[in-house]
Amino acid sequence: MASRAMIERPEGVPVHKDPEILAAAQRMAGEDLCSIADLSSAEVRAILKLGHDIKRNPRAYRHALDAKQMVLMFEKASLRTRLAFETGINTMGGNAIFVDQTKSPLGERETIADVARNLERWVDVIVLRTYAHETVTEMAANSRVPVINALSDFEHPCQALADFMALEEHFGSVTGLNFTYVGDGNNVCHSLMLAGAQLGANVTVATPRGYSPDIEIVTIAREMAQANNCEIRLLQDAQAAAEGADAIYTDVCVSMGMEHESTKRAPIFRPFQVNEALMAKAKPGAVFMHCLPARRGEEVTDAVIDSPQSIVFDQAENRLHAQKALLLLLLGGLANVKGFNS
Ligand code: CP
Ligand code: NVA
Repeated sequence: MASRAMIERPEGVPVHKDPEILAAAQRMAGEDLCSIADLSSAEVRAILKLGHDIKRNPRAYRHALDAKQMVLMFEKASLRTRLAFETGINTMGGNAIFVDQTKSPLGERETIADVARNLERWVDVIVLRTYAHETVTEMAANSRVPVINALSDFEHPCQALADFMALEEHFGSVTGLNFTYVGDGNNVCHSLMLAGAQLGANVTVATPRGYSPDIEIVTIAREMAQANNCEIRLLQDAQAAAEGADAIYTDVCVSMGMEHESTKRAPIFRPFQVNEALMAKAKPGAVFMHCLPARRGEEVTDAVIDSPQSIVFDQAENRLHAQKALLLLLLGGLANVKGFNS
């Protein structure tokens, strides 16, 4: 197993002089994050690099977003995403306002464009958790302040950033890593495929027939993979997908909004459960990953999620650091950090 020391910056290159972070800070200021596909390979690397630095030196960023206002409008439940964004901006001097949209979906009371035109007058960033992905893209198209996708039915980009940060911590680098996702070809799977491809990891996805990832995502991920010397494989056999894996990742087989399909899906996904037999097919040092919340005994057994191979709470912890990095880059906050660009 690689040690954390491997992700330390090369001798003599402070993060604030890091050309990749400087370039990303310039390009990303004022932009949205609806999809991992919005980010170049260099930008994904820069977010993770900054995330590692924030994790090591949180005090250096204490006032980076002084007085910045963030609104979170969530149509679905959340623990990790909401708390990581709220604590993230609070610990950088800003403020979070949470709006529960679980009983009144966005676009119902007034158009999404009109909501955007109001919000941009008061806040510096809009964070959305939605059913329709188009709610996020429409808000982004109509808002002059950055919009962040905090999970839609199509993608979960903030999750994927934290997950690859956890893999970098564990393995030192994810270039050439064999990353396997087993289960539903859903929002989390989509963002992981794109992030893995941008970072040069080989991504294998095993789903039941009929539950494979969206073809548009597969096409984009394969283009990215080609540019980054890695590959994307789609299988329908969990055992084959687990062979030689460095990491095995799963998610619930019934995402929020799909609860009516629970009974139908349960037997279809049973052969895709991550259990000790499946983990035994992976490399000896392989890790187990899950975005959480987990349905213990369904997509993963207690024996696996509670094993020393499991890094699920490192992933959860890194939601904080990766989202802080994202906020800093989109809100131009690095300019307020001592030593940056000077
Ligand atoms: N993984 C994740 O997004 O968790 P929450 O649904 O609790 O935010
Ligand atoms: N795929 C899951 C992820 C939850 C964080 C869902 O959309 O419900």
